[in-house]
Amino acid sequence: MSAERNRQVVIAKIPQGALQVSDFEVREVPVPEPGAGQLLVRTLRLSMDPATRARISDAGHPGLLGVGDVMAGSALAEVVTSLEPGFAPGDIVECYTGWQDYSLQEPGAVATFDKLGTLEEHLSIYGVSGLTGYFGMREVGEPAPGKTVLVSAAGGAVGHIAGQVAKQLGARVVGIVGSEEKGRWLTETLGFDAAINRRGEKLSAQLKTICPDGIDIYFDNVGGEILEAVLPRMNEHGRVVCCGYASQYDVAAPVTATRGVPALLVGKRLRMEGFVVMDYYDMKQAARETLAGWLAAGQIKLSVDMLEGLERAPEAFVGLFGGDNRGKRLVRVAEPAVNAG
Ligand SMILES: NC(=O)c1ccc[n+]([C@@H]2O[C@H](COP(=O)([O-])OP(=O)(O)OC[C@H]3O[C@@H](n4cnc5c(N)ncnc54)[C@H](OP(=O)(O)O)[C@@H]3O)[C@@H](O)[C@H]2O)c1
Repeated sequence: MSAERNRQVVIAKIPQGALQVSDFEVREVPVPEPGAGQLLVRTLRLSMDPATRARISDAGHPGLLGVGDVMAGSALAEVVTSLEPGFAPGDIVECYTGWQDYSLQEPGAVATFDKLGTLEEHLSIYGVSGLTGYFGMREVGEPAPGKTVLVSAAGGAVGHIAGQVAKQLGARVVGIVGSEEKGRWLTETLGFDAAINRRGEKLSAQLKTICPDGIDIYFDNVGGEILEAVLPRMNEHGRVVCCGYASQYDVAAPVTATRGVPALLVGKRLRMEGFVVMDYYDMKQAARETLAGWLAAGQIKLSVDMLEGLERAPEAFVGLFGGDNRGKRLVRVAEPAVNAG
């Protein structure tokens, strides 16, 4: 790999509370040499996923990341050298590269790029985020005409797709976001029926005004106080789709309280269901075709929010918890040597 160096973004210190850009630092090391059966890959686009925050810890457990470790993350990457017959230089693969230019991969740990759309589309609407919004809303939430659907983190990677899927299926859709301006983007550009600013007036009061007939389906990306405010506003036989709990990833002591929940579930006959996108991967192809059709017809819009350069990964990631992103946040690390178009 000649004189080329491998830039790595590593954890410089373990935050006691909210993550800061200064908790990371960049170092340079030699590009690693692949061993028998391995691939050397070069990172092209890094995916920013809030749940990865939970891996930074001083607990020292296997799988958790401590000081000096390369920050974890999934990416699309290009094969540079292959010592495995099934792969060739120029192939694009999806794998856990971490935040670095180059990484070694085992063939069993990479997924091939099936050239459905651009690199950005592959990591957003046709990838984990888009499919999570699609399956979570369609299969767990089951929206229908006449239903009111509420989505939290509605301007994010999963949320902006989940909300638009519910619109396609005929529901009235309300999104919760972190600013007035993001709320206007939901209604004016993405076709949501209404938006709520979680940093505005008291949430329970806003829910009462904007969802006067209650909420039939709540797609919960954040948990915490927002879930607490929404549950009492749910209609009987409503469904709460538990997708994630982003409000708890970046705090020193995540909440664990559940004591009041059974009373609400029983009284309102609610169904509260968690899901993981991979549970629905046997339907992945059909989902991608449906999303591609809606996208091509202009019925839904995709928002990709890309920052330029590996060194901006900390800023891109920390910003997720401030709600800086609109749609799927990615970091462009490099362009493919061979056009993946
Ligand atoms: N179940 C699955 O299979 C699966 C798969 C992928 C992702 N997920 C989950 O889906 C959720 C969304 O992920 P994503 O990748 O689409 O992230 P994202 O929504 O693009 O980014 C996170 C968003 O959460 C909101 N947020 C951050 N901190 C918050 C807080 N303290 N309180 C309320 N809102 C807060 C921010 O939006 P605003 O400031 O605009 O509110 C931010 O933009 C996450 O919980 C993730 O773990 C689940």
